[in-house]
Amino acid sequence: MLDGKRILLIVSGGIAAYKTPELVRRLRERGATVRCVLTRAGSQFVTPLSLSAVSEDKVYDDLFSLTVESEMGHIQLSRDADLLLVAPATANILAKMAAGIADDLATTALLATDKRVMVAPAMNVRMWEHAATQANLATLEGRGIERIGPVEGDMACGEWGFGRMSDVPDIVAAVDSFFGRGRRLAGRRALVTSGPTHEAIDPVRYLANRSSGKQGHAIAAALARLGAETTLVTGPTHEPEPPSVTVVRVESARDMRRACDKALPADIAVCAAAVADWRVAEPAGAKIKKGKGSASPTLTLVENPDILATLAASGNRRPRLVVGFAAETDDVVANAIAKRVAKGCDWIVANDVSPAVGTFGGDANTVHLIAMANGEVEVEDWPRLSKQAVAERLADRIADTLGAVS
Ligand code: PMT
Repeated sequence: MLDGKRILLIVSGGIAAYKTPELVRRLRERGATVRCVLTRAGSQFVTPLSLSAVSEDKVYDDLFSLTVESEMGHIQLSRDADLLLVAPATANILAKMAAGIADDLATTALLATDKRVMVAPAMNVRMWEHAATQANLATLEGRGIERIGPVEGDMACGEWGFGRMSDVPDIVAAVDSFFGRGRRLAGRRALVTSGPTHEAIDPVRYLANRSSGKQGHAIAAALARLGAETTLVTGPTHEPEPPSVTVVRVESARDMRRACDKALPADIAVCAAAVADWRVAEPAGAKIKKGKGSASPTLTLVENPDILATLAASGNRRPRLVVGFAAETDDVVANAIAKRVAKGCDWIVANDVSPAVGTFGGDANTVHLIAMANGEVEVEDWPRLSKQAVAERLADRIADTLGAVS
């Protein structure tokens, strides 16, 4: 978490500026205070109003504004921060920083600061590759300025290559690292389950549920960002594979159990998958035909293996920290407390999956972290957060508990 950290976010004029409200939101969700400086060009891509709404602060956008000078002053603005983050950092602002030009509030704050500076470059691939940009970056890096990205990908101009601003979670992870919160799980192995399972009825039909995999995939990504060697065992989903994670794709609960077993030993197991509790006892070998007047088929179900309970009871192969999820529609916390005991896991993350709440498939989640402390059940109610923020908090908590292998 970034509790109490003060970040001055300088937004210069690139198309990637549209991502900055999300960046502000994510940094604030982690406890940071974010104050924004918007360059004139930046304001062509993101409005001061939207940054002001997400930062819950005024947005600073004019060096010569009397309000700014009387209330804050550009020197004070940069001194009152623990970190200056330039995102997106265009070729132009990087050039001005390298040359020490201070012709607007953003560049003046950057020249006046005695604090650390990070830049997240974003520009067309040719501008990125240009010798001038590379020389400016070398100058800045030589002065201790840290660079985040850019990454390779599609560009707004239709070209492909390096120059795309790093994704918001990666910028947040870099800020975490800057504040000493990064790679705290280096040397640890993590296993995460995610998504639904599909249980065959016949070769074309299956039983499934509404899990999208968003929560589980975000957890795998967050653990990997903290340095854990992470295996994600996932049922069928449309979620992109998280970077730096070994992804094992499975269909059924029994496949998932086998894949999890293969992924051991692990220090951490987080079971976020919505595993089908039952499967069809004897799936038909050929497509079941709908005949005129023939009776509807009857499906006989048998119980699936419980992967979480199996992991929690795996003796000397048991991960040190086993975390389950409890998907509940009523008495969420009470049912989850009972489930933690029944499954034998260390922590359980309770979430309400009533259709009205929109947890399945949605981008946000409201969870309660249930653990034992000194023989007592401890329930932490987390605010409604994006699934990425839930994942990061959980990964942070795991890192606080296990830490890196020394
Ligand atoms: O995928 P999303 O759309 O992002 O939605 C996220 C989620 C709602 C699926 C996720 O946050 C969540 O709650 N996952 C657990 C879903 C679930 O199956 O809950 P449960 O209460 O039925 O199971 C309890 C625990 O046992 C879970 O950790 C589950 O992974 C595990 N389990 C259950 C059955 C089984 N046969 N094997 C298991 O390992």
